[in-house]
Amino acid sequence: MSHLSPLLKQSSGVHAERGEGVHLYDREGRAYLDFTSGIGVTATGHCHPRVVAAAQAQVGRLIHAQYATVRHTPMLELTDRLYEKLPESLDAIALSNAGTEAVEAAVRLARHATGRANIIAFTGGFHGRTMASASLTSSSVKPRTGFHPMMAGVAFAPFPHAYRWGWTPEQATAFCLQELDHLFVTQSAPRDTAAMIVEPVQGEYGYYPATAEFMQGLAERCRRHGIVFIVDEIQAGYGRTGRFWSYEHFGVTPDILITAKGLASGFPLSGIAASTALMEKGLPGSQGGTYGANAVACAAALATLEVMDEEKLVANADAVGRHLDERLQALAASHACIDEVRGMGLMRGMEIVDPGSRCADGERAAALLVESERQGLLLLRCGAYGQVVRWLPPLIVTRDQVDDAVERFTKALAKLN
Ligand SMILES: Cc1ncc(COP(=O)(O)O)c(C=O)c1O
Repeated sequence: MSHLSPLLKQSSGVHAERGEGVHLYDREGRAYLDFTSGIGVTATGHCHPRVVAAAQAQVGRLIHAQYATVRHTPMLELTDRLYEKLPESLDAIALSNAGTEAVEAAVRLARHATGRANIIAFTGGFHGRTMASASLTSSSVKPRTGFHPMMAGVAFAPFPHAYRWGWTPEQATAFCLQELDHLFVTQSAPRDTAAMIVEPVQGEYGYYPATAEFMQGLAERCRRHGIVFIVDEIQAGYGRTGRFWSYEHFGVTPDILITAKGLASGFPLSGIAASTALMEKGLPGSQGGTYGANAVACAAALATLEVMDEEKLVANADAVGRHLDERLQALAASHACIDEVRGMGLMRGMEIVDPGSRCADGERAAALLVESERQGLLLLRCGAYGQVVRWLPPLIVTRDQVDDAVERFTKALAKLN
């Protein structure tokens, strides 16, 4: 009998033994094409030799150089290297471990800096499982059920889910901005609003990219009212959408950027970036934690950045992501149970519906994952009803591997028809 908590459930039946590149291997040595990337974490693939070597070297030198006690080189080098990827204005970086910690650090900073309490989040957003992050989350009730009351001071404005509403992106955007303005006169006056937090491409809710007009509308209102504009780049950032940061698709610049997942190829590391002037408005002692900026994680993050640059992984995510989109759109055209394929770069989601009723069909999506696994392909689901099959391979994936994965998925579709 396993002593693992029964609540820690796995989406696949695989007992992973080792990983290499795009593949995971189970205890019997069976290979799986891993198009989950550990939920978007293993950007450079499993156990990239450069990342492994950097981590191994660091483990032998210094593991825990506690950053509230001493400085250490991997942390300082990483903040310098990371700054090269950030907009000029975001020149200060605070590192922590999980994504949710970084989200909470961003909210804390916005509240300190503005002296205001309220945060506007957007419907369908996912920001984490700890109290403040769960309070900002509305992708599903799962992180919230039985955990209420949530943190006070959160107001939700609509995100342009054009597919869900059966509208054009323009109609959805106009509605959302109108509702945001309405929210300012009904729920949270600008003078009470510390921040807006948004995923430029929503992840857990079902791979919905924002529109440029929507993001620019948020940025403009933040500027006008002195509200801190926070982008959560935890899932969509770090090259996944074909630009280094996903907000770059939309012609805006955030005041705070939150990153995690792909940052260290699997070592726990997260961070927020803001201007020094904004950071200085935070209260002393409000950033940090025992394990943040772990030296091994920082060394792995430095190697990850080197690999990303040398292997041109952001350009690869763009090019191979377009190829993946073409292949998935072709599948949608020939299979009635795939209603829409959305996303950017190597972040694509497929809406699975019941072919008769056209309603979201989470059970069919689950069955597709089980059958894909039998075919040697690991995928994940997302969406409020578990109805979205999501494709998020590592950024090193090739066109051939995408073709291989799509062939396996096509077989899974055939088995279910
Ligand atoms: C957009 C987004 N924000 C925040 C989080 C929370 O990150 P973590 O699970 O590392 O706490 C996630 C995790 O999936 C995410 O996708």
